Amino acid sequence: MNAALFDAGAWQQARRDEVELALVQSLPIDAPQPLLAAMHYALTGGGKRMRPLLAFAACEAVTRQAVEQADPATRDATMRAACAVEMIHAYSLVHDDMPCMDDDALRRGKPTVHVQFGQAQALLAGDALQAQAFVMLTHYGDSDLEHAPPNATQLRCCQLLSKAAGAQGMAGGQAIDLASVGLPLTQAQLEHMHALKTGALIHAAVAMGGVCGNATQEEAAALSVYGHAVGLAFQVVDDILDVTGNTASLGKTAGKDALADKPTFVSLMGLDAAKAYASELVQRAKLSLDEVGLDRSQALHALADQIVARSH
Ligand code: IPE
Ligand code: IPE
Ligand code: MG
Ligand code: MG
Ligand code: MG
Repeated sequence: MNAALFDAGAWQQARRDEVELALVQSLPIDAPQPLLAAMHYALTGGGKRMRPLLAFAACEAVTRQAVEQADPATRDATMRAACAVEMIHAYSLVHDDMPCMDDDALRRGKPTVHVQFGQAQALLAGDALQAQAFVMLTHYGDSDLEHAPPNATQLRCCQLLSKAAGAQGMAGGQAIDLASVGLPLTQAQLEHMHALKTGALIHAAVAMGGVCGNATQEEAAALSVYGHAVGLAFQVVDDILDVTGNTASLGKTAGKDALADKPTFVSLMGLDAAKAYASELVQRAKLSLDEVGLDRSQALHALADQIVARSH
């Protein structure tokens, strides 16, 4: 791809449109109501879809072609990985907003799932979305068996996503988050918490994209450095936006972290240093790609830049 011709906005929009459609089609239509409605509500309605976009970008970086030009098995595997990580992310937000956690009433500009459907349905919608992610990664029916990626690809994606979602990843990070209220964490402790609660899923999105595109060991290692760095940067910026953003533009209640006495990068180092740190992480992420010849991966570069420059 010629750098001058790369249009990040068009690239993202095309993939976002496909993901929106695939996510809705992936819902189990025979699930009981109102569970199905709560799952649909949690999964749709304005997310940025950063994790799916990162999965596509990582795959395209290693195959060096647009995903629509890839063979059907690669295309299908990448779409499934993209949807699966977004399902885990959506579930994490549903539970994160519940009264026993952050107790938030607003998400993506709308009432949170427990406000809309009640706590029991919100809990179940989260549980069901988590399980559905692994259905998505592995369940090939008779009609699409010919597009099925190799078993090893499916297994590796399951390994990456399950580890990133569980006690050594997102859920573990959320546990640390809840236990850290009111505590003055060191930078290393805060980085660890952020790397788990937010970084792990972002890292998994990038790593699964690499697996789907058959990354070499060297490329996978570079993608891993990139994924860790942008994953951490993503939560540093989320901390910053909680202070600098407003409720209308964020679509979620601003100022909640200070109110709940959560340790954040802003409370640790101040606004300017937190901004500088996020930029430094993103530079580090881009450098890791350049070092192994993935320097033409404009989509990964653009997403890294967007992670620091975003306003919501
Ligand atoms: C918000 O994630 C929660 C964090 C992990 C920081 P996003 O900012 O990706 O939320 P959506 O999906 O775009 O709404
Ligand atoms: C979210 O962190 C991490 C998750 C695993 C969902 P936050 O609690 O800061 O996310 P927001 O600000 O509510 O989106
Ligand atoms: Mg939280
Ligand atoms: Mg929260
Ligand atoms: Mg936040």
